[in-house]
Amino acid sequence: IVIVIIAVVLGLTLRQNKSEFESTFLSRCEKFNQYDCKKLWGVFQQAYVDKDPCKVLVEAYNPLIAAAPFKPQCNKTMFWSKTKDVVHGFTDKRKDCFVTLEDTLLGSVLDGLTWCGKEGSKDTFTSGCPGWSECENNPVRSFWICASAAFADVACGDVTAMLNGSINTPFNPTSIFASVEVPRFNASRVKKLNVVMVIQKNNISNCNHSSLKNLTQALDTGITYSCKDVSESRIQECGAKPEIACGACW
Ligand code: APR
Repeated sequence: IVIVIIAVVLGLTLRQNKSEFESTFLSRCEKFNQYDCKKLWGVFQQAYVDKDPCKVLVEAYNPLIAAAPFKPQCNKTMFWSKTKDVVHGFTDKRKDCFVTLEDTLLGSVLDGLTWCGKEGSKDTFTSGCPGWSECENNPVRSFWICASAAFADVACGDVTAMLNGSINTPFNPTSIFASVEVPRFNASRVKKLNVVMVIQKNNISNCNHSSLKNLTQALDTGITYSCKDVSESRIQECGAKPEIACGACW
């Protein structure tokens, strides 16, 4: 009897986990009411189910991106690195100004989630999955690289990036922004990159930081560059006051 109870409880817990992830996916997706979310869930699962969770390639998510492509939003695309909370605190309130990857359908559906599959199983697991840098080709990391590349591919006009002035290397070559997004900015589409350096009271870097030289060198010839030090409080103020024009935020 004890074994049966344990088995049932374990079975229910596993089932619940699975359906909890699926219902999070579906309920976040349905907020966009523009897509067939059940179909997207099916396409999404194809990328990683029944696979070794360290053998999910970036390309595995191409069908998912193709099923919910990123729309070019010229002059509104916002990139970021190590400034997640500040950026989203701002874009959540000022969708009229900027759009981040996490404000798009796929980005918002999967933001903050962990998932993986297992060889020989059709299920989605949310625990026991490899960590971000535990193995290169893990389901979560491959998704973010694939989505970030596709998001950068459609960037156009003036693009903005919020970098963090409170860390040693605001433009870090290992970040997704430096390794995946910047190399895809194409001068035929992107005119200018505006860096907003987020300055907190204990900042140790600013627009003069040497790592930004690598950024300007990595930019496709023909893309102009600017950098502005902006206090975190100014960014928050602009988020809180819709009457401030987007162009007057910083
Ligand atoms: N563990 C878990 N998740 C991670 C890790 C990690 N060690 N590193 C990166 N990520 C994922 C998380 O989803 C995190 O919120 O990437 C996101 C951004 O990581 P950062 O290191 O702060 O920045 P960066 O690597 O430059 O990526 C941000 O990529 O997500 C796109 O368009 C987005 O421009 C943005 C850029």
